[in-house]
Amino acid sequence: MSHASTRPPETGSWEALQRELFEEDLKHAPVIHPAVLKESPIIEVDNFSLWYGTKQVLYNITMAIPRGKVTAIIGPSGCGKSSLIRSFNRMNDLLDGVRYEGDIRVDGQSIFSPSQDVIELRKRMGMVFQKPNPFPMSVFENVVYPLRIDGVRNRAVMEQVCRRTLEAAALWEEVYDRLHKSALELSGGQQQRLCIARAIAGDPEVLLLDEPCSALDPVATAKIEDLFDSLAGRYTLVIVTHNMQQASRVSDFTALLYMGRLLEFGPTVEVFSRPKLRTTEAYITGRFG
Ligand SMILES: Nc1ncnc2c1ncn2[C@@H]1O[C@H](COP(=O)(O)OP(=O)(O)OP(=O)(O)O)[C@@H](O)[C@H]1O
Ligand SMILES: [Mg+2]
Repeated sequence: MSHASTRPPETGSWEALQRELFEEDLKHAPVIHPAVLKESPIIEVDNFSLWYGTKQVLYNITMAIPRGKVTAIIGPSGCGKSSLIRSFNRMNDLLDGVRYEGDIRVDGQSIFSPSQDVIELRKRMGMVFQKPNPFPMSVFENVVYPLRIDGVRNRAVMEQVCRRTLEAAALWEEVYDRLHKSALELSGGQQQRLCIARAIAGDPEVLLLDEPCSALDPVATAKIEDLFDSLAGRYTLVIVTHNMQQASRVSDFTALLYMGRLLEFGPTVEVFSRPKLRTTEAYITGRFG
């Protein structure tokens, strides 16, 4: 492990340097900063590997997601970030040819145990995707959808939850006069905030957010980042992002995945200011991805 800065290669390419650093770092990985281990975990990933058909995309990931905190998952495109967080609520089950080894526990219970109710698991682990996916129904019906699934029929309760979650998602002011119009008429950024409101309306314990701001402008992004701030504590947030500023602004902890491996996981301030692996340093300073 070294704090030495990454010099440009005298000969050869950035790719060669990247490969060399990675191979060296892999001998030490994963580097888990001690502060992470002091947290109370909500999700425990235990020696977890994942394959799509014959292609292995996650390798022996072991990490504990701190309860009530915001954890950012960063890493180059294709390193397995989405595959990992889709495993947390068994969304990967919906794909053909997926195989895994190892375990993932939520509150100490294996999510793969035969007694695990997958619908219940997905309710506890709300998910927001990169591309907003409002249902083709009104704004109101989108937000209260999780309540309807739960059999809530009380109009006053639904109206209350609708207002509260739209306010939390910083969308109320923009939509209160068109709650009964189609959600598909909203702008992309509004649709994304609507999807976040819908996820919160289900009252999950964990919000899994896969690049939730990548289609948003800076104003909508700032609103959503404020929302994450206000949700932390009550909820556990796991956010995949390519935006290093966003990771450092919103998260308490940051995990770097690289080619399907967990390389480094620690408090965000430490990972960003004093990374322990040279690959981490090179990645967060934008020298390669
Ligand atoms: N349904 C699938 N079937 C087969 N291979 C897949 C599938 N989904 C993802 N992969 C492969 O698994 C690897 C990891 O993909 P994943 O989407 O998890 O990466 P990522 O880190 O989220 O990337 P990005 O930053 O581009 O979203 C990639 O090589 C990808 O091509
Ligand atoms: Mg992804």
